[in-house]
Formats: sequence, C-alpha cells, structure tokens
Amino acid sequence: MTSITITRPDDWHLHLRDNAQMHDVVQCSARQFARAIVMPNLNPPVVTTNMAKAYRARILAALPGSMQSSFGPLMTLYLTDDTPPAEVICAKESGVVHAVKLYPAGATTNSAAGVTDIRKCYNTLEAMQQIDMPFLVHGEVTDPDIDVFDREHVFIERVLFPLTQRFPKLRIVFEHVTTQDAVTFVQESSQQIAASITAHHLLLNRNALFQGGIRPHHYCLPIIKREKHRAALTAAATSGNPKFFLGTDSAPHLQSNKENACGCAGIFTAHAAIELYAEAFDQVGALDKLEAFASFHGADFYQLPRNHEKITLHKQSWKVPDQFSFAGEALIPFRAGESLAWKMA
Ligand code: NCD
Ligand code: ZN
Repeated sequence: MTSITITRPDDWHLHLRDNAQMHDVVQCSARQFARAIVMPNLNPPVVTTNMAKAYRARILAALPGSMQSSFGPLMTLYLTDDTPPAEVICAKESGVVHAVKLYPAGATTNSAAGVTDIRKCYNTLEAMQQIDMPFLVHGEVTDPDIDVFDREHVFIERVLFPLTQRFPKLRIVFEHVTTQDAVTFVQESSQQIAASITAHHLLLNRNALFQGGIRPHHYCLPIIKREKHRAALTAAATSGNPKFFLGTDSAPHLQSNKENACGCAGIFTAHAAIELYAEAFDQVGALDKLEAFASFHGADFYQLPRNHEKITLHKQSWKVPDQFSFAGEALIPFRAGESLAWKMA
C-alpha cells in the first residue's frame, strides 16, 4: 500500500501545556486530529470545572481562526484527595469536561497534587459511576520499593483490579498501557474498561533508552518496557478490539529539562503522530486496522460521534526537523533529524 485514506482521527491523551509553550505545540495536534482529550497536569493543576473552561478557552484562542472550528479540546479534571463529588457533577453538567484523571501522587510530571490514597476518593468515584463520567488512570504505583519496570503490573494487582470490583459500572481508561499484563487485564475485563496506546510504546522497546549511550528523549512514564511487551501492545492495537485506541501522550518538555542530570519524563510526538502510528501498523502489515484504532474506538468509548472528514497518508519519506521552537527555547521531537516513511497529505 502506498497511500491510505482514513476518517480523521482523535487523540485520546494529549499534553498541551499552557501559555507560550502551548502556543508553540497546539497546531501540531490540531492539524491532524479533530479532537483531543487534554491532560490537566498543569502547574497548578486543572482541578475545577471553571479552570477547565478557562484552559479550553486559552487553547482555542491559541489557534488560528480556521482551526478554532476544526479542533475540539475535550477537557479533563485532575483528581485530588479532596475533589468533592459535587465538582465532578458540575463537570459533567458543563458538557466541556469529558473525564477525570488519576495521577497517583509522585508518579509523573506535575503529579505532586495527585491522589495519595485512592480510598480517599471513593465518594467521588461513586458519584462518577452514577453520572457515568469516565475515569482516566495513570496506572503506576509510586512505592519506591517497586522496580520502575514493574510499577504498572503491581498497580493492576493493588489498585486497578480492586477498583473495578468496587465500582463495576465505572468507565475506566487504563492510560498509555505499556505491558502485556495490562493488555491481558483490559482484554479480560468488562466492557467498561478500555486502554489508550502511544505510538512510541508501539515503536520502541527499552533498548532504545540505552542505544549507544543514555537517550533522554526516549524517557517517558510509564517507562518503555522489553520487546515482548512492545509486541503485545502492537498485537492489541492491530487486533480490531474496540477496547484499544489511540492516545499519543505527546508530552513536550524544554530540551534543557530533558538533557539534564535529572531529566523530565515525556516524549513529544504530536508533530508526526498519525504518521508514527501508520509506521507501527505498517510494520506488521495491519494498515487496514489503523482507522478503527485511530478514529472509531475512542469516540465510541467516550460516547461521542465519529468524525466525518477524511485524511490521507502517503508512503513518502520526509525528514523530521532537528528541533522546534518552544517558548523561546528548543523542543526535541521524537525521531529528530531522522526520516519517517509516512506523511499526512
Ligand atoms: C507526562 C508529562 O510530561 O506531562 N510525561 C510522560 O512521561 N508521559 C505525564 C504523564 O502522562 O505521565
Ligand atoms: Zn500523559
């Protein structure tokens, strides 16, 4: 196949940041995707419906006029130990907030205000279950005694499985799954449980962290795992199972914060997101499965209409820029300076 036309995709997990940083990255996503679930881990985090509304307005204001009507930011709330049930009810009624996000405190970038103990949130989760508000889960334990490569697996046992037992009707997205264990868990769970998968977790295994030296631009959370896990993610994404859908987790950081003695977690893929997924699907001869994964399964899970417009990708080599401008500094994109095989027309 040398070209493929699919329904315009959506990104069900995206970090847009804010202010000058957001101005420099938001068009990358709006160019490709019709909608995006926008992560709330700003500093300070987006913890109220009013904050989400204001953030949404800033996102739209950062887009050129032509894109303001073609790109829909779907907002999320950042769950804390103290988020009252009334706040998620207000969020649901707003029509602007489409999900509530769990960051276990200390798990990742800007998670300090996250949840210290999920039991503190039971009342709010009960309300979410009642009003059918999706719950998006960063699925890693933060216990320093647990090996960083095992944190997703242990999270399933300690937190996620018990949660699905306690709140069987709660719709949950296990965000950016990275292990065979997570794939199996989602496959074997009820229809309420789905998962997003990033392009970089489909394309890399953990050797990419140490290829000829330490590679800070391949560092993200949950961390990239060994090859058998990458292969399991690819099998899930290309299986046609509607529980799995596209979520880039594109997470831009300043070059100076990545190339650092204590570098930040996050990989920026928004500049070439759909092309990277096309490459991953093409590698296993499954381009015919790309459209449902990228454009149907997520919309169906979130109970939103599927998009109508189409996009076309050509098998045409192009070079990724070495860097982008990011709030006056540099942002190093995934595959910087390298060639990609697919290009969106
Ligand atoms: C994300 C970020 O930078 O905001 N980083 C990452 O490595 N994925 C946070 C997150 O989704 O964990
Ligand atoms: Zn993320």
